[in-house]
Amino acid sequence: MNGKVILVTGGAGGIGSEVSAHLSSLGARVVLADVNAASAAARAAALSPTGDCAGVACDITNPDDCGRAAAFALDHFGRLDGMVNCAGVSKPHDSLTLPPADWARMVDIQLNGAFYIAQACARRMPASGGAIVFITSTNAEAAFPRRAAYCAAKAGVAMLTKVLAIEWAAQGIRVNAVGPAYVATEMTQRNIAAGNVNEAQIKARIPLGRLAQPADVASAVAFLLGDASSFVTGHSLYVDGGWLAYGYF
Ligand SMILES: NC(=O)c1ccc[n+]([C@@H]2O[C@H](COP(=O)([O-])OP(=O)(O)OC[C@H]3O[C@@H](n4cnc5c(N)ncnc54)[C@H](O)[C@@H]3O)[C@@H](O)[C@H]2O)c1
Repeated sequence: MNGKVILVTGGAGGIGSEVSAHLSSLGARVVLADVNAASAAARAAALSPTGDCAGVACDITNPDDCGRAAAFALDHFGRLDGMVNCAGVSKPHDSLTLPPADWARMVDIQLNGAFYIAQACARRMPASGGAIVFITSTNAEAAFPRRAAYCAAKAGVAMLTKVLAIEWAAQGIRVNAVGPAYVATEMTQRNIAAGNVNEAQIKARIPLGRLAQPADVASAVAFLLGDASSFVTGHSLYVDGGWLAYGYF
């Protein structure tokens, strides 16, 4: 990463924290953008006591916030080379009784926010280009019950990945996605505690027999941000232990 500046949304969360740490360990300067500004700032300070990481407040559902966060990266570090969108929420609910406001909120965070932050960052990337990685999910491809808005939004981001990739190729900006199966983070712990998922069933359903670790996601993100993937764009890379390949019992 050699001094590249990468903005990571959801930088205070399970996947965003690990992505930020991994990119920092590879020499990137990282802006951790999160609606939870205090946690983002604390995480940034813990990652780099010398100031190579910084936290900034950003609600990705607000286009102005996205513009301010991207501008902060330029003001603070002088450039912006990449963006990883790890912000997100999960709130399973029966579709027949799902309140419209809950549907709208999920789509706003998972799909609209992904576009707003990508647009804000792409506008500020250098003429030499940049890279964007969206965190989607196996739910961009595989339908799970009680997750209509989440699955539809993630599938939307997978298509957004393709559209932005072909549109922004002329600016040298590559756009890809990483789609994990269940990752061992607080989001998954909350879903297990709420009875929305059964950990033993998940492990049995995944051919590699375990949950994804945040580090599995972070190394895929680093690949898609870096020069090793310089001819890869518009692609969704599923980090799922074989979940999507599995079609047996
Ligand atoms: N954990 C999993 O099993 C899993 C699997 C597949 C995909 N994902 C996706 O990965 C992403 C990260 O998940 P995670 O497990 O790290 O969750 P997490 O709950 O640990 O972290 C999510 C982070 O996003 C932040 N956030 C929420 N709404 C925001 C907003 N509007 N603007 C800015 N920040 C906001 C939260 O403050 C939090 O820091 C999500 O998009 C999620 O859908 C997670």
